[in-house]
Amino acid sequence: MSGFDTQAGVPLGDENDPRELPVFAQEIDLNAEQRSEPGAVVPGDGDYVLHADDLVAGYFPGVDILNGCSLTAKTGELIGIIGPNGAGKSTLLKAMFGLVRVHSGRVTLRGRDITNLRADALVKEGVGFVPQNNNVFPSLTIEENLQVGCYQNPKLFDQQFDQVVSIFPTIADRRKQRAGSLSGGERQMVAMGRALMMNPSVLLLDEPSAGLSPALQDEVFVNVKGINTAGVTVVIVEQNAARCLQIVDRGYVLDQGKNAYTGTGDQLARDPKVIELYLGTLAKA
Ligand SMILES: Nc1ncnc2c1ncn2[C@@H]1O[C@H](COP(=O)(O)OP(=O)(O)O)[C@@H](O)[C@H]1O
Ligand SMILES: [Mg+2]
Repeated sequence: MSGFDTQAGVPLGDENDPRELPVFAQEIDLNAEQRSEPGAVVPGDGDYVLHADDLVAGYFPGVDILNGCSLTAKTGELIGIIGPNGAGKSTLLKAMFGLVRVHSGRVTLRGRDITNLRADALVKEGVGFVPQNNNVFPSLTIEENLQVGCYQNPKLFDQQFDQVVSIFPTIADRRKQRAGSLSGGERQMVAMGRALMMNPSVLLLDEPSAGLSPALQDEVFVNVKGINTAGVTVVIVEQNAARCLQIVDRGYVLDQGKNAYTGTGDQLARDPKVIELYLGTLAKA
């Protein structure tokens, strides 16, 4: 199947986009000690579940999309990333998930270097990723989508299925239905459910509310908050910036591949510059 990382059990997003070929990098070795190599302990990063430090990254050699992006997430935090189209939000998530080559800078997971590690290794280490588009396998049933999600550890299925159903109750009744026949909102539930099947400690979500009606968008935000409250650290990219800032602990505004503003959700939502430049009319709603 195109657009499918068989090892990671993750649909890779824009499968019709020929540019979207993932750059798989290195094997993981999280047991390695004190090397500036995969798995090395990075002093000072022990506090963070995830730390992207000054990332320069892009799809082609010599063409960098991220030009010094940084982000931290501590255990249990809900972190938002907002910014205009083309700012590099998706690229940042993909760079942290091993799908876009990091040319300089570093990514750590629980204090260890994971820069340019492969997506399947990161899934194994507890990172979940929901791409922006084409994030379910349409020809598979809901249940099969969830099975793919725990492909690396099928024994987790029963336990995680129960957890996913407790968050998305409608999934239980529809488990034999093909994902391709679902509405946009239902697909997002399956996509998030799939990413939860490996019981991740960090979940990266790329615009889960895009393309949904306002009511369904709201449901997505409530669900994301619920997943976070259940103990999963979440990094969410959102086009509905104003709503996103209401639910996050902290947020990052990205512009042209760089951090533009950062603060608590509240601080950003009230910052006149952020309102003027990035929230527009949404902020006044
Ligand atoms: N697969 C790709 N190959 C090459 N360039 C890409 C690819 N995806 C995105 N880009 C470019 O990277 C830049 C940032 O895109 P993206 O990270 O998708 O922005 P955002 O998610 O903030 O809208 C854009 O200029 C876009 O054209
Ligand atoms: Mg995007």
